[in-house]
Formats: sequence, structure tokens, C-alpha cells
Amino acid sequence: MPLVNAAEMLTKAKQGHYAVGQFNINNLEWTKAILLTAQELNSPVILGVSEGAGKYMTGYKTVVGMVNGMLEELNITVPVALHLDHGSYEGAKKCIEAGFSSIMFDGSHYPIEENIEKTKELVAICKEKGLSIEAEVGSIGGEEDGVIGKGECADPQECKQIADLGVTMLAAGIGNIHGKYPENWEGLSFETLDAIQQLTGDMPLVLHGGTGIPADMIKKAISLGVSKINVNTECQLAFQEATRKYIEEGKDLQGKGFDPRKLLAPGFEAIKATVKEKMELFGSVGKA
Ligand code: 13P
Repeated sequence: MPLVNAAEMLTKAKQGHYAVGQFNINNLEWTKAILLTAQELNSPVILGVSEGAGKYMTGYKTVVGMVNGMLEELNITVPVALHLDHGSYEGAKKCIEAGFSSIMFDGSHYPIEENIEKTKELVAICKEKGLSIEAEVGSIGGEEDGVIGKGECADPQECKQIADLGVTMLAAGIGNIHGKYPENWEGLSFETLDAIQQLTGDMPLVLHGGTGIPADMIKKAISLGVSKINVNTECQLAFQEATRKYIEEGKDLQGKGFDPRKLLAPGFEAIKATVKEKMELFGSVGKA
């Protein structure tokens, strides 16, 4: 199946009280692992691409070419959206041009008026071209690919203002952080999430910083309207741990263990296991 935008899968998720995972990709192994797992579990999925990862993979056109090729050659039949993660205004326009099916415009660091203006403009372009669009209010804490957020709780009224612009989904800061959570993390602010959902109604809400959020908090967030959950660091850690083990056990020194297809295999399997665990927790298994 060709790429789809994220609108239908997220509307269904919101109605069905589960969430679709956005898993960030970095290269061929990442992409293949996520697509195969989604297919095996009959789950919709969103492939996230940060601007840094897009650059690393040599540019958005390469990413689009690789993903479209895999959808065809791997016979992927579940709904897959290719989504720009934390896009700048310029990055969003480039991805629309390159053939992404969904974008996020992260205008959370602008004053709200400017965030509204820029989001409005991109909403119009996405509507015309059939893409879905995610906007953000209240910056997500921590650092992701050089994008640093303070980790504030969004103002529910501002969330409503942005939701009313016609975005497909809304990311709102509720105390979540990219990367590992510190020991003294206070947890998600369900009070904020509840207030946002009350004002934004049917709008699918997005929870960033999915790595390390305890299962009970994930479930509660879904019950309060979260329909898309982003996971990045956890796949990186799983890949790193499995690759380290392979080398520490000296497997790269045995036979043809140096072959990149062998060297990267344990990390690939570890990403698959992580994605499976998350899809089961988010409730998207069998929902394709
Ligand atoms: P983590 O790296 O904390 O999983 O966050 C991912 C994310 O929110 C991508 O936008």
C-alpha cells in the first residue's frame, strides 16, 4: 500500500481508545525493522524523521525513495505515514515537496501569534496536498537532534487556538521530556492533559518523549485522548545494547562476523522487539 497521511489512523485510534506509535528512523535497518513489525502485528504505524536524521540519510528525497521502495518490495499492506518530526517552517516545506505524507511544524518556540500564523499557512498547504499536519504548543523538554525544549506544560487555551486552525493532531507539553527521564521527574501532568482534551474535543493528541514513560501513565494518557505516541531513544538504546553485546562476545571476530549484515542483525532484532512491545502497550496491534 502506498504511503497514507495520518488522519484516518489517528481518528480511528482516538475513537477506539488506543494510540498509534511514531517510531523515528535513522537508516535502512531502522526503517525495515519498524515496517516489518507493523506488518507482522497488523498495526498502523508512523515513521518519524527528524531534520537531523533526514540530513544524515542524505536528504528527504532519499528517505521518501527508501520508504516507498520498502513498502512495495516488502509487500507492506498496513497503513504507514511518513512524518517530519519537529519540523521547522522551511523543513516542513521541503518535506511536502519531497513526498512525505505528514509533517509536524514545531512552532512552540515562537510567540503564540507567530506560531498561529505559520501553522495556519502550513495547514492550508497540507490541506491542498492531502497531508496531515501536527502542531505543537508548550515545548517538550530535553533535547532531540539539537532541538532543545524546556519541558513546560501547555496552556489549554492556546492548545484550543491552534487546534481550531484545522491541524490533524496536536502535541502539547504535559511535563514530558525527550530522552531518558531524570530520577526526580515529576511524571506527566494529567490535569493539564484533561483540560486540553476538554477544550480540543475530537482532536487526536500526541505524546512526545515516549521513552521510559511507565506503562500505567501511558494507559492513562491514552484514556485522556492521546492517540499518537512518539518513541525514539528507546529504539536507539535497544540497538546499542544488542550491538555492544555482539562485539563484547567477540562475534565480529568469528568467521564472517564482520559482515555488516551480521554485525547489525542483533540491533535490528532489538528494534523489532522494542517496537512490538510498544505496539502491544499502545493497543494498536490488529488495528490496521
Ligand atoms: P524519545 O526519544 O524520548 O522517545 O522521544 C521521541 C519523540 O518525542 C520524537 O519526537
